[in-house]
Amino acid sequence: MSDPVVRPFQPGDIDACYEICLRTGDHGADATALHTDPRLIGEVWVGPYLKRWPEHAFVVADERTVGGYVVGTPDTVEHEQWLQKEWLPPLRERYPIDAFPPGTADADCVQLLHHPYETDDRLSLGWPAHFHIDLLPEMQRRGYGRALMNAFLASLRSAGVATVHVGVSSANPGGIAFYRRLGFQDLHGETIWGRTTDPV
Ligand SMILES: CC(C)(COP(=O)(O)OP(=O)(O)OC[C@H]1O[C@@H](n2cnc3c(N)ncnc32)[C@H](O)[C@@H]1OP(=O)(O)O)[C@@H](O)C(=O)NCCC(=O)NCCS
Repeated sequence: MSDPVVRPFQPGDIDACYEICLRTGDHGADATALHTDPRLIGEVWVGPYLKRWPEHAFVVADERTVGGYVVGTPDTVEHEQWLQKEWLPPLRERYPIDAFPPGTADADCVQLLHHPYETDDRLSLGWPAHFHIDLLPEMQRRGYGRALMNAFLASLRSAGVATVHVGVSSANPGGIAFYRRLGFQDLHGETIWGRTTDPV
């Protein structure tokens, strides 16, 4: 068995990426027990980036399995416009606003399908790219997060993008420590971080 490597996303990785999203979806911890629909969380946080921006998606994988991904967009404004026009309408049909009992993790995801985040103009102008990164527990703290970030940042530089931001839950101290260690600057109370696209 060869060591895992960071490589560009391939269409055959989609299901594994959705599964990783679920297994890291509770502020970095496993959210499997919180959801009755195992794919819904991926439709919010991973699927749209794989569909719209596959050239900026990277995975860490061996020949058998995918153990982590980074997905993102070079242009948050364009991404949010595309979400409203293309990605969200069919999902809103499939998941009406009352599809799940209020207060459940699935209901929270459905809420985001019907009322997605709208990034503040100052943030998307100053730090136009954004991303999400998740690795399974057995892949964490082995340097793969840094390697995924370097692949993603290089793809942004190739697209002429100089700065990037990321959101992280205040209930995820590991994520915050990672971004701090990689030289991100705190833009908003440790929940929004930004940096240049120079290598980390
Ligand atoms: C957060 C995450 C992406 C980091 O990736 P990783 O592969 O574990 O991190 P790396 O091994 O590449 O570490 C890079 C640096 O960050 C530091 N770091 C990473 N995780 C850390 C943690 N939990 N606490 C403190 N430092 C941490 C490492 O010490 C390392 O520093 P060094 O290079 O000086 O030694 C990964 O742990 C993960 O997917 N966690 C669960 C999902 C999640 O929280 N995603 C982020 C949501 S915003």
